Amino acid sequence: MSRITLCVNIDHIATLRQARGGAYPDTMEGARICEQSGAHGITVHLREDRRHIQDRDVIELRKIVRGTYNLEMALSDEIIAIAKSVRPDQITLVPEKRQEITTEGGLDVAANFKKIKEVVKQFRDIGVVVSLFIEPERDAVARSKETGADCIEIHTGAYCNAADAFTGNLERDMPAGVKRELDRIYRAAGFAREIGIGINAGHGLNSRNLALVLAAPGLKELNIGHSIISRSIFVGLAAAVKELLDIIGG
Ligand code: PXP
Repeated sequence: MSRITLCVNIDHIATLRQARGGAYPDTMEGARICEQSGAHGITVHLREDRRHIQDRDVIELRKIVRGTYNLEMALSDEIIAIAKSVRPDQITLVPEKRQEITTEGGLDVAANFKKIKEVVKQFRDIGVVVSLFIEPERDAVARSKETGADCIEIHTGAYCNAADAFTGNLERDMPAGVKRELDRIYRAAGFAREIGIGINAGHGLNSRNLALVLAAPGLKELNIGHSIISRSIFVGLAAAVKELLDIIGG
């Protein structure tokens, strides 16, 4: 099995900073600590409402991130223009609703096919890898491949919600609802590998529910944020990153 990489989503360092509108905690320092602790890259989501990450974060991080710099973004012309000028290593296209607490569902690739295909080409033409955040569904994987995107990011949220709602031994006594969601992830990854599109995964992953996702065929990159930043309050950011890297192994 080739190495699975971890990009740490540091949005919630900015959430804490924006709570007071000051200068700390500093996203640059956060990114440095994550990479020094072994993370393979940094992910941020520049939301249209700028609730956490700000434009200046996106620009300054470009200068210091050494691994993969992955920018999550909606199909918004304003954000697309910023992303083109910043040129992260990778963009991940996500759906965005103003009222949501976090990204709720995957992209509707079929409904937005023409626009997504256009944006994929524009970014690939300037050397930026393009990933599409989608539900673990066969049709979404197939349509993603047709857009010309380099990879998909499988939305693991439904599995994580089901797994987190069960307090018993996940591996030994897995409830049917958790197994169903996990199987959806495995099948979507299997199909993606079959048709030749890269496979990332993320959303809601934590130290308890992560291990089972690692068995998804062809999985290459994980994007994990909230659980790492939450855990860092108690053990520090470096230790929180290392705990997850230990589970990922390799
Ligand atoms: N991947 C995508 C596309 C996301 O939108 C998010 C949340 O910003 C994540 C991964 C990380 O999710 P979490 O913060 O729950 O680990």
